[in-house]
Amino acid sequence: DWTMDKFVDKEIARIRALVGEKGQVIGAVSGGVDSTVAAKLMNEAIGDRFHAVMVDNGVLRLNEAKIVKDTLTKGLGINLTVVDASERFLGLLKGIKDDPEKKRKIIGNTFIEVFDETAKKIAAAAEGSSRAGKIEWLLQGTLYPDVIESISFKGPAVTIKSHHNVGGLPERMDLKLIEPLRELFKDEVRDLGRNLGIPEELVMRHPFPGPGLAIRILGEVTPEQVRIAREADDIFITEIRAAGLYNQISQAFAALLPVKAVGVMGDKRVHDQVIALRAVETTDFMTADWFPFDGQFLKRVSRRIVNEVQGVCRVVYDITSKPPGTIEME
Ligand code: XMP
Repeated sequence: DWTMDKFVDKEIARIRALVGEKGQVIGAVSGGVDSTVAAKLMNEAIGDRFHAVMVDNGVLRLNEAKIVKDTLTKGLGINLTVVDASERFLGLLKGIKDDPEKKRKIIGNTFIEVFDETAKKIAAAAEGSSRAGKIEWLLQGTLYPDVIESISFKGPAVTIKSHHNVGGLPERMDLKLIEPLRELFKDEVRDLGRNLGIPEELVMRHPFPGPGLAIRILGEVTPEQVRIAREADDIFITEIRAAGLYNQISQAFAALLPVKAVGVMGDKRVHDQVIALRAVETTDFMTADWFPFDGQFLKRVSRRIVNEVQGVCRVVYDITSKPPGTIEME
């Protein structure tokens, strides 16, 4: 009979046999549940011969790169390289106003380039060390539902994989794929994470899209828009956690609308931007309902965002279910 302990032992043995005594593995991590659990499993199996890479694309959440770095290195002992490519990404996103798919393509392609460049550097350094062989393997945190969806379903789920994960990388870099989570459902991945000692808060984290805040900043992505979206999102999520609602919600975020509205702040009329809050409950992310916050909660979040985030004078709550809406706003 199947138990998590047995799965871990079996999978670690399988990874060791596959990779060999000197073999090396590289993989991208995002700070999300799947890539962190996959990375921790590799770390248990082959230690520092697993190389995790996190790319800061300039559209991560507030302090995200630092938080992930601390959690994975200090907390979980994973051999991690963080690459700050923010300026490169933001430079390429400049001027893209009306085409969300273009944002996705830019971020996806640039991610592959940066990851590829970083992998080459890590490989060169690793091959110089005596105990190590070539990097021959690429880790991917593919789950069972991703495997099924990519064969049978041509919808948003496919987009998730093509943008979030490193589609195209194995061929380009001539690497073999290693996918230790490919038989697991999400709940099982969370259990595996707990079994490996990953903190509960990380194990229960909401999903975050590969294109990040770029698809939550409607219209042009500029450093100033990123600042506003980040600060508003951080207040919303902090309040959700403080109210004990985080685990009842499947995904929540603040989006920045590409319009200005009039408001009064103090004794002055202002013409500033509008934040839309989105929070949904769903089991499969294919359909979703908006989360029924109480009025006091929304009042508190709205007051904090307008008072604390410079450049915002209004907050609205998105009450569109999916379908017809999508979870993201772009
Ligand atoms: P939608 O907006 O299609 O979102 O209802 C469903 C789920 O997919 C995520 N999502 C993405 N994830 N790259 C990703 O990695 C993307 O381009 C992308 N678009 C949507 C979304 O956050 C939600 O969890």
